Amino acid sequence: MNQIELIKARHSVRSYLDKPIEADKAKQLKAKIAECNAAGGLHMQFCPEAGKTFNRVLNKFMGLGSAPSVIACIGKDGDDLEERIGYYGERLVLFAQGLGLNTCWAGTFNPKNVPAEVGEGERLVIVIAIGYGANQGKQHRSKDPEKVIASGGEKPYWFNYGVEMALLAPTAINQQKFLIDLKEDGSVTFADQGGIFSKVDLGIVKYHFEVGAEFAKSKDARPQDARPQDARPQDARPQDARPQDAFS
Ligand SMILES: Cc1cc2nc3c(=O)[nH]c(=O)nc-3n(C[C@H](O)[C@H](O)[C@H](O)COP(=O)(O)O)c2cc1C
Repeated sequence: MNQIELIKARHSVRSYLDKPIEADKAKQLKAKIAECNAAGGLHMQFCPEAGKTFNRVLNKFMGLGSAPSVIACIGKDGDDLEERIGYYGERLVLFAQGLGLNTCWAGTFNPKNVPAEVGEGERLVIVIAIGYGANQGKQHRSKDPEKVIASGGEKPYWFNYGVEMALLAPTAINQQKFLIDLKEDGSVTFADQGGIFSKVDLGIVKYHFEVGAEFAKSKDARPQDARPQDARPQDARPQDARPQDAFS
C-alpha cells in the first residue's frame, strides 16, 4: 500500500487481540523508529510490553487497556517538541498500518507506568497504542474543507488534495482544530486553534497534507481516484498530464 492508501485505511483502534507483535515486525518497527528519531531529533521508543500504561479510569471507559505494546513518544523538551512528535509519530502510525498492525494515539495514559527511558531534559509527551486490532476501527466524522482552509477563493488541485488527506488525520477527540492556508507566494501555512494536544495534532496534519500534496503533484495521481469533490476538472490532473504539457 502507498501512503495514500495507508492514510485511508487507518483508523484508531481501541480493542486489541491477545497477540504479541512478532519479532520480525518489531525489528522493522524499531528500525523505522530509529530513522524517525534521527530525522526529528527525538527519542521515541518501542515498548513491547505496554504493562500498566493504560490503567487509568478513562482508559477502562474508552478501551486501550487491551493494547499489548506502545510507542513512547519522547524528546528533549522545547517549543516545537509536540509538533515534531506528531509529524514523526504519524509516520510510525502509517508504517505500522502497512505492517498489518493497528494503532491509537493516546493522550490518556499513566506516565509513571510507561516502560521507557526518559533522559535528562526529555519529556514523555504522548504514547501510541499498537498491536493487532480486534477490528479495523471506523472512519471519523470530518469538518468540511472550507472550515479548515483559512482563506477563500479557488485553490489548486494539489492543495485541495492535501487538505483532504489532512482531514483524514487523527486528532485528539477528533477536534480538527487546525487551519491551512495557501499564500500568494505558493507557500503553505498551518495554524493550530488551541485545544488539547493541538500541537501534536498539527504535526500529524502537516504530514498528512504533505503526503496528499506530493501525491497530487506526482505521476501516480489519477483523477478518478483523487479528485476532491470541489476540484475543478482542469485542476484534477497531475501537472504532467495537463494538455499544454502533453503537446509541448
Ligand atoms: C494527540 C491525540 C491524542 C489522542 N488521545 C486519545 C486518548 O487518550 N484516548 C483515545 O481513545 N483516543 C485518543 N486519540 C484518538 C482520537 O480520538 C482519534 O484520532 C479521533 O477520534 C479520530 O478518529 P480516527 O483516529 O479513527 O480517525 C487521540 C488522538 C490524537 C491525535
